[in-house]
Amino acid sequence: MRISLTVNGELREADVRGGESLLTFLRDTLELPGSKNACEQGECGSCSVLVDGELVCACLVHAGQVDGHEVVTVEGLARDGKLHPVQQAFVDAGAVQCGFCTPGLIVAVADLLEREASPGDDEIREALAGNVCRCTGYVKIFDAVRLAADQR
Ligand code: FES
Ligand code: FES
Repeated sequence: MRISLTVNGELREADVRGGESLLTFLRDTLELPGSKNACEQGECGSCSVLVDGELVCACLVHAGQVDGHEVVTVEGLARDGKLHPVQQAFVDAGAVQCGFCTPGLIVAVADLLEREASPGDDEIREALAGNVCRCTGYVKIFDAVRLAADQR
């Protein structure tokens, strides 16, 4: 099946293999490896992307379902060679260790801050409940969210 979609503001057209996930399609066919594959079961959030502005796990979406839709991945957040404020906040707060969870968290935090400019801890916790980090203990991730919110 051939599909066309907008990815990070660019119109893309490519073939999809039967049953292929959006995550595999993004990584292997469109060569956008930012979204990570840690569980492929919707459990970890490392593959989080936006489809028509909705946060989804790309591993749970069939690539064929995004035909005609708009997808934003972590690669699409930076502008004019400058990191997105959430990306910069993760760096500045030291919220990245192995980095495997980071792209999904950054997409999820960017989505949260679009909806709620100044989230409290409970809102942060709820928004990031689907994103698993095995390294940081989350303290610095919360610091990064607060820093990004302060800088917006
Ligand atoms: S790889 Fe998609 S939720 Fe874990
Ligand atoms: S930094 Fe390693 S899983 Fe989050």
